[in-house]
Amino acid sequence: MQEENYYFSKAFKYQNGFLFCENVSVGEIKVWLKNQGIARVTPAFVYSKSQIEENVLSYQNALSALKRNTQLNYALKANFNPSLVRIIKSLGCSLTLVSGFELELSLKLGFQPENIVLNGNGKELWEIELAVRNGCLLNIDGMFNATQTTSVCRKLQKKARILLRINPNIDPMVHKYNSTGIGGSKFGIQKEDLNDVLREIESEPLLQLVGIHCHLGSTITDIGIFRECTEMMSQLFSNLKNEGFEHMKYINLGGGLGIDYTKHIAMTTDPETINGMETKPLVIPTPADVVKVIDEVLGDKDISLILEPGRSLIANAGILLTSVLGVKKSEPKRYIVVDGSMTEVIRPALYSAYHHVDICEPSQVEDAHKMLYDVVGPVCESGDFLGKDRYLTTPHEGCTLAVFDAGAYCSSMGSNYNMRARPAEVLVNGNKLELIRRPDSLDDILGPYNV
Ligand code: LLP
Repeated sequence: MQEENYYFSKAFKYQNGFLFCENVSVGEIKVWLKNQGIARVTPAFVYSKSQIEENVLSYQNALSALKRNTQLNYALKANFNPSLVRIIKSLGCSLTLVSGFELELSLKLGFQPENIVLNGNGKELWEIELAVRNGCLLNIDGMFNATQTTSVCRKLQKKARILLRINPNIDPMVHKYNSTGIGGSKFGIQKEDLNDVLREIESEPLLQLVGIHCHLGSTITDIGIFRECTEMMSQLFSNLKNEGFEHMKYINLGGGLGIDYTKHIAMTTDPETINGMETKPLVIPTPADVVKVIDEVLGDKDISLILEPGRSLIANAGILLTSVLGVKKSEPKRYIVVDGSMTEVIRPALYSAYHHVDICEPSQVEDAHKMLYDVVGPVCESGDFLGKDRYLTTPHEGCTLAVFDAGAYCSSMGSNYNMRARPAEVLVNGNKLELIRRPDSLDDILGPYNV
């Protein structure tokens, strides 16, 4: 339980030991879900509308102050819940996509196809065709992707506006699974292959080179990395213009800005067993810092800028609510076993990522005090944990816990492993609640099979 009136972020705050999202306590959200006829109330994702708006506007305000054309493309892979995407659309964003189904959804939601970017190191022909038919921008990832696009354009007798995804060989200093722009990565075009790809483009009038793209990786916290990358891209942009690629207009810098997942680490870490863990808040650049650095480097060059953040627009706007199934000792460890798991929040298992976990209401256990616990789910895997070595008050059965910063790459990376139902999702707007995804039924899971 946290002290009175503790603000976790603008959207999530504690009042008298109870966690609120905007104006609604998470306890009320559970009751409301039950009243909607939802049998399995937790786990459930809860999102704050105002937090999404604040995140998007922090980019939009910084971009609109620049003297150049800019475009903010939300990376849909971070969270594709259509109700959330509609909020992001209403704030003037376009999208960056990585699959044909993502493109189908974007068209259904009414996004302007000409501002959509289709990205990917392994696009299928039908996906390229869908993008070319609709006049989307395509990031070309390498030689075979260039020849694939040529064959689609010839078949449709239609031009494609393309950007080249450059591999700048810069180390973004993130978990290796989140690093994409370093030498040897499966993504992008390396310097030594660039000329061959350019010759392919020159020889095909249906391929119109309109820009260059680069995405170094995700969870970046060092502003110097954005500067280094922009310097390289700005130089390459000028070289290509000088070489006669007259339609060059865009530099598209993939997202990558991290968020401070660990900002509240000290609240649940035992001071005596801290073992040198970093407890000071990281200094993470703001969207405005990133925009400023990029704009400074591009200077007065006539370049339109596309940014495509995912995580920094949505991660801190969502939490996973989960209920305690029981508490268990297995010497030398203690476990809080909850109904949420790696099927909702896979990032700890996959990247050893830290997500803050905390109890959402005062514990009803008599003489409850703080102890070191691992918070684990019911999935049949030892890698199924939400938090390790957390200093938490012993909770009662049914007590609600929250996993914070679960708005990005949690629901969208969720699965039905162990035949678990994907959970409900709720949007909070002030004191209004909206069910924006119902939980899976057994039929949803079995539907495609011959049972
Ligand atoms: N643009 C491109 C081309 C990308 O590949 C990505 C993410 C983004 C933009 C958005 O990056 P962001 O702003 O969200 O960092 N599952 C991992 C993250 C994978 C990101 C992949 N690419 C995680 O949970 O940390």
